Amino acid sequence: MSHSAEPLPMSARRSGPLKGEAQVPGDKSVSHRALILGALAVGETRITGLLEGQDVLDTAKAMQAFGAEVQRVGEGEWVVHGVGVGGFAEPEGVIDCGNSGTGVRLIMGAMATTPITATFTGDPSLSRRPMRRITDPLELFGAQVTAREGGLLPLTIRGAADPAPVLYRTPVASAQIKSAVLLAGLNAPGQTVVIETEPTRDHTERMLAGFGANVTTEVTAEGRVITLTGRPELRPCTVAVPRDPSSAAFPVAAALIVPGSEIRVPGVSRNPTRDGLYVTLEEMGADLTWENQREEGGEPVADLIVRHGPLRGVTVSAERAASMIDEFPILSVIATFAEGTTVMNGVAELRVKESDRIDAMARGLEANGARIEETRDSLTVHGTGGLAGGATCATHLDHRIAMSFLVAGLASEQPIAVDDAGPIATSFPDFVPLMTRLGAQIG
Ligand code: S3P
Repeated sequence: MSHSAEPLPMSARRSGPLKGEAQVPGDKSVSHRALILGALAVGETRITGLLEGQDVLDTAKAMQAFGAEVQRVGEGEWVVHGVGVGGFAEPEGVIDCGNSGTGVRLIMGAMATTPITATFTGDPSLSRRPMRRITDPLELFGAQVTAREGGLLPLTIRGAADPAPVLYRTPVASAQIKSAVLLAGLNAPGQTVVIETEPTRDHTERMLAGFGANVTTEVTAEGRVITLTGRPELRPCTVAVPRDPSSAAFPVAAALIVPGSEIRVPGVSRNPTRDGLYVTLEEMGADLTWENQREEGGEPVADLIVRHGPLRGVTVSAERAASMIDEFPILSVIATFAEGTTVMNGVAELRVKESDRIDAMARGLEANGARIEETRDSLTVHGTGGLAGGATCATHLDHRIAMSFLVAGLASEQPIAVDDAGPIATSFPDFVPLMTRLGAQIG
């Protein structure tokens, strides 16, 4: 479903100490993958802790359109009856992935080696985002693609009838590209190989193995080499979706910048392909305590206790970018409350997310009194230990931009407003009530 509702203006103002427990929702990346792999397995997959945000609901609807039975049986509890690898049926209507780049890109991969035709569309944000990075490798498998000028959505894929396996080096560090190729490789005979120079989130590889596929990862001089043997029979699984470290970043940031705060965030991922923000925060001097390390849903997690305290600016290397790619907007907010300069390198990919996140953060923070510099692939924040506030920020249909500025407003001198908080429902539908329970003044 596209986000077509009226804009939802919202503002946040200086709040007293935040206290309590922040139980953030299920991981968005894992949720999409659980539905898609469940649809490609033969039999019943049970999912608990699924993120019931709009992005994931759109993927659930898409899996139904391709012939899987997908049912909600309780809060966060879903059952998928899959059709097997190569078993997707041709959808009757257009597949509308709303705001979700992950949804559309992974689903395109999953159908591209089955001889059916599907047309994909999305909201105005998704319709501006590059799709050739996905359709180029899918064409190597034999799929035929017709797209709008520039390779943009809406686009139609005619899946390959006689797919050939592919060896593909991802041109940018992207788990979405890697995953689309691996999902397409499921229905190609022989071995499909993806080589990535920078490691990106590895949920697809982990989950494919959990569903019984033969997938191996080798670290070589060229980078990570992921090899998948095609045409497996995927066996249905029980997937316990861990909490989303990218969503956890917002209450964590709020506790770091609001004086006197101390909150507990249970079940934060320690997966090294997702934990770049937390490593960076420790370098900034953040007071983070990890407790109760364990495994949940096949992912290493721990409970995190966060306390407010002084922070210092740091330089984040380009090599770390992929492990915190969705966390740069909120890091730029935290950096304004640190003392000294924070430089974020190798972040060009932020320009092609739900919005141009470098531009959105730079303009919004500047309007609220921060000193920012940007290049094509870097963002620099000159932190002064505080932020004036007082301005309204454009969110450009981008959930993480909306949440970042609302968090900033909890510690700025004057309130900070956003023009549209509606997109928050794509990834963190409970954001406002959860933050309010901690003591945040948002409304
Ligand atoms: C995601 C991968 C990332 C991330 C997105 C989710 C995924 O995108 O920004 O929110 O689930 O694979 P890229 O892999 O394109 O960088």
